[in-house]
Amino acid sequence: KQPPSRKGSMHDLPQNLLGPIKEFEEQFTVDRAKLKQIVNHFVKELEKGLTVEGGNIPMNVTWVMGFPDGEEQGTFLALDMGGTNLRVCEITLTNQKGAFDITQSKYKMPEELKTGTAEELWEYIADCLQQFIEFHHENENLTKLPLGFTFSYPATQEHIDHGILQRWTKGFDIEGVEGEDVVPPLETILKKRGLPIKVAALINDTTGTLIASSYTDPHVKIGCIFGTGVNAAYMENVGSVPKIAHLGLPADTPIAINCEYGAFDNERVVLPLTKYDAIIDRDSPRPGQQAFEKMTAGLYLGEIFRLALVDVIDNRPGLIFNGQDVSKLRKPYLLDASFLAAIEQDPYENLSETLELFERELNIRPTQPELEMIRRLAELIGTRAARLSACGVAAICTKKKIESCHVGADGSVFTKYPHFKARGAQALREILDWAPTEKDKVSILAAEDGSGVGAALIAALTLKRVKAGNM
Ligand code: GLC
Repeated sequence: KQPPSRKGSMHDLPQNLLGPIKEFEEQFTVDRAKLKQIVNHFVKELEKGLTVEGGNIPMNVTWVMGFPDGEEQGTFLALDMGGTNLRVCEITLTNQKGAFDITQSKYKMPEELKTGTAEELWEYIADCLQQFIEFHHENENLTKLPLGFTFSYPATQEHIDHGILQRWTKGFDIEGVEGEDVVPPLETILKKRGLPIKVAALINDTTGTLIASSYTDPHVKIGCIFGTGVNAAYMENVGSVPKIAHLGLPADTPIAINCEYGAFDNERVVLPLTKYDAIIDRDSPRPGQQAFEKMTAGLYLGEIFRLALVDVIDNRPGLIFNGQDVSKLRKPYLLDASFLAAIEQDPYENLSETLELFERELNIRPTQPELEMIRRLAELIGTRAARLSACGVAAICTKKKIESCHVGADGSVFTKYPHFKARGAQALREILDWAPTEKDKVSILAAEDGSGVGAALIAALTLKRVKAGNM
């Protein structure tokens, strides 16, 4: 049975709650002029990151030099350490151009691991790889499999099979890894366990997404992740990267840059921060870092929403959830982006699914006006995230003077959050000034599996380059 459609959800906003709703609207709305101002600053920051002096945005050189040509072949392992899950894949690139076979297993990253010790992290990763090999290759005499390690955190790389973690992002806080090369501890534990695996390349998920998407769609010029974290990668020319000029590589050599633009505006000069964003930053393991990410990424959307509701409860006593036990709502990070997504997806006129959700997860029974306020708040937070997210894409296009292209995008927010795509596309129109009659010139489209297939392709490209003696 089709639920009655919920048209014009902004109608009839509850009178008694107009105060907080108006405040939320003022805080979370990002208009066209602000978007443009953000993009202008963003372009400058991208440029700065490529200079010798550097800036807030790391603009990490990835040593992925050029796109696959479809002739890549062989069997590769990919290890994807994203932020929420750990995935092991085995990918065979076949002799049929652009085709591949994939076998994979997913493991949930235990929450404790994120703030545990380095040893626990490597042991856990080795356990997953070992399980995978034992399950899929029982009693086989394997020759060493090359591994593409998708390690989706900012890393300084001097070559592709190495990477020094600059800092943890996405709520990770494992001691003893920052400032260290992450490849040797992985290789050591693989050796200790006698696993026939050799790390061929260390890859960011955005770079994997860029490479995997361009493999099947030649119009793709940018790879983006809108998930637990946010970030993008694109192909630069060596000649436009002053910080590697001393290496004397030919200026027209292509080289992928992992922007790490979650760190955009860490100085906080243009981002329209609310008091909730300030609390998120203050209470995070790395205050001051990832300013842009903390306003847009899936890890934080539910928390922004929770903080806004707690604000009304504490600062307007008795206005909402009067007489109810709100203790559950006081737990930091209790709500994730899927909670917000479910609210935005509630199709019923009376928001009955939202009501159920609140009762089930929070033990709170909102009144009808409260439900209307909750819905509006979710829309505002989701819309702000999508509109700000578009700024990163627009900034890369502006910097590279790209008039039209495809952007390969992945991540839970992009694939699952309602209206994210349409809101982002609308913001791009506003920023890039397309005429109302013009079709989208820059389209953000669902990507190929970057952290799996992309990682395998990059491992293949690397081995090809090693063979050719071009390292
Ligand atoms: C964070 C990481 C970055 C990654 C992004 C998306 O911003 O620092 O490396 O690409 O999340 O997963």
